[in-house]
Amino acid sequence: QNLEKSMISKLIETAMEQLKFSYTLNSNFKVGASLLTKNGQIYTGCNIENAAYTPTNCAEELQFQAVSEGVREFDTICIVGGKDGILTEYTAPCGVCRQVMMEFCDPETFRIILAIDKEHYDIYTLKDLLPLGFGLRNLINSREI
Ligand code: THU
Repeated sequence: QNLEKSMISKLIETAMEQLKFSYTLNSNFKVGASLLTKNGQIYTGCNIENAAYTPTNCAEELQFQAVSEGVREFDTICIVGGKDGILTEYTAPCGVCRQVMMEFCDPETFRIILAIDKEHYDIYTLKDLLPLGFGLRNLINSREI
């Protein structure tokens, strides 16, 4: 399925808008994300750090927000990030966030847009970024269940 250019721009713009909410007293590395669900909603997120370091939340954890509202079918996520909120290169999702995507998305079709601005972006599938990922399918196919 093709993603319209206007939707790509909207997702990038929305992810960039989240940078202002990013709370990063530790790293000052700001990340914004937007998530298009299959029913056409757009969820938003930013990273949130903590004085105790460990409780840091990645921007992509916005996926949990969608799930907590009963929305589990995801189409595309867009991620932007950079030191001091200045976008100069692509910010790819960390391993943990890729694994969370693996739970709710079809790795063959779920798209991940990494962007610097509306003119500079790359689109990957989850399978591109998490080849041979472990997921629910492994549990269902295992003889233990
Ligand atoms: N971060 C994200 O929000 N998403 C990623 O995929 C990579 C890392 C955040 C976590 C932390 O607040 C900061 O970037 C530096 O690691």
